[in-house]
Amino acid sequence: MKKKRISTRQLRKWAEDGRKISMVTCYDATFARLVEEAGADAVLIGDSLGMVIQGHETTLPVTLDEIIYHCRAVARGCRRPHLVGDLPFGTYQGNVDAAVMNAARLMKEGGVQAVKLEGGAHCAPTIERMTTAGIPVMGHLGLTPQSVHQLGGYRIQGRTVDAAEKLLADACALEAAGCYAVVLEGIPAPLAERVSAALAIPTIGIGAGPHCDGQVLVLYDLLGLDGAFNPKFLKKYADLNRVVVDAVRAYAEEVKTGAFPDDAHSH
Ligand code: KIV
Repeated sequence: MKKKRISTRQLRKWAEDGRKISMVTCYDATFARLVEEAGADAVLIGDSLGMVIQGHETTLPVTLDEIIYHCRAVARGCRRPHLVGDLPFGTYQGNVDAAVMNAARLMKEGGVQAVKLEGGAHCAPTIERMTTAGIPVMGHLGLTPQSVHQLGGYRIQGRTVDAAEKLLADACALEAAGCYAVVLEGIPAPLAERVSAALAIPTIGIGAGPHCDGQVLVLYDLLGLDGAFNPKFLKKYADLNRVVVDAVRAYAEEVKTGAFPDDAHSH
């Protein structure tokens, strides 16, 4: 039987009830199956795949076709989590018509229920047109990785009074434009608390403290696949770096010595 995906309405209801929303990124069908089995509420096919899958230094090179490819894989791998596809850099910052068509392609070809885009009040006309066209939009404020060069690096945002007021105003503008949720990344916890209190839509934090309505982490980060990546906000729930290296080393050793394959693994 086909399971019903968690909807934007359900996420809003959970936030209203004080039930926190768990979201992770995911990029392929195998991990999508595991993430669903683990009970995650929402899955983001994030443009972070440019870094953790493709090995780029930033998310900027990721294309719409690449995101669609990964969205399709994830959509095939799980049936219940709410699915959000990231609009890559350059696919929504230009003219609004092109942005709406790109978002529609992501939903139509990628099989996601919603799109995510980065930016504040200046994105409001684009978000209004998308939501009018039936495309649910998740906003993304604070440390927005697609603006890494504009921000001068991956730095915590909203630290000054002016920056905090602007971020709050941007969050209100996103809600007014029709966003159904907003990611708050890399901002002080008290600011995330203020924004979360001011908005009726759910806030999803990453490096934004405990007061958001939900949390998102990059799956490879929470699994500890990169031993060298240890930012303060990250809690590693496993050390897969070690597990993978140990397993592949043992395999390679056994192949070299002829211990594998043995009779038990031969036909
Ligand atoms: O691309 C991504 O994975 C993201 C999350 C970190 C929010 O945007």
